[in-house]
Amino acid sequence: MEIIVLSDPAAVGRHAARLIADTLARRRDPVLGVATGSSPLGTYAALAVLAREGLDLSRTTAFALDEYVGLDPAHPEAYHSVIDREVTLPLGLDPRKVHVPHGAAADLPAACAEYEAAIEAAGGIDVQLLGIGANGHIGFNEPGSSLGSRTRVKTLAPRTRRDNARFFGGDVEAVPLHCLTQGIGTILRARSVLLVATGESKAAAVAAMAEGPLGAFCPASALQLHERATVVLDEAAASLLADREYYDFARDNAPGGAPKRD
Ligand code: F6R
Repeated sequence: MEIIVLSDPAAVGRHAARLIADTLARRRDPVLGVATGSSPLGTYAALAVLAREGLDLSRTTAFALDEYVGLDPAHPEAYHSVIDREVTLPLGLDPRKVHVPHGAAADLPAACAEYEAAIEAAGGIDVQLLGIGANGHIGFNEPGSSLGSRTRVKTLAPRTRRDNARFFGGDVEAVPLHCLTQGIGTILRARSVLLVATGESKAAAVAAMAEGPLGAFCPASALQLHERATVVLDEAAASLLADREYYDFARDNAPGGAPKRD
């Protein structure tokens, strides 16, 4: 796991966008895994700048990590709408190539199986962008999730519903109880993963992910198993890392040269 600590959230977004752009540029028909929530917004904003400067994303296929169950896809907080608003439109993606799990499907297990099949049919995900929940979840794989899990229905943790109530006017009861989410096993199949985290509220989860034991109690710790996992943090999210000195040293002395910094 490569850990890169930068000064502030804007620098995190710019750096993550450059890493994504570099990965996508190497593929003729790239496949990008996208996350929702607050963490990736700076990355999308920076990617939109790169797109305005000439980065061509028109051949990119995108797969969202998750979706609430039971929300109409047109609901402003359904991830169908969020991805459309924050990703598809600003990045100029072809809407026909953007996929979000069908949380409103009558047959949810079938929708999950179809989603897995669609990822496979697209050739797999080249780079999966991730945020991390304060409880260590990735996607909506809450603590206790199988490390080999695939796309399926999950029950959201009370803490996740409280954290996400801010998107529903502060009303925790308005946050759906269930979701469809790519599994941890699905995420681990991406050819590379890129997790962004900012702010003090993520510091404990980030430390558990990177330096704690591998285990289902911190689902993000599964990224310790991925051979191409990059974590880009601001100072606040990195503040509880014990081995910070090494991460900075490794970044500045990377075999291919230190990454460009803002
Ligand atoms: C969203 C997702 C979640 C979020 C996590 C952090 O698609 O899969 O894992 O990344 O809940 O959310 P924010 O970024 O809003 O703190």
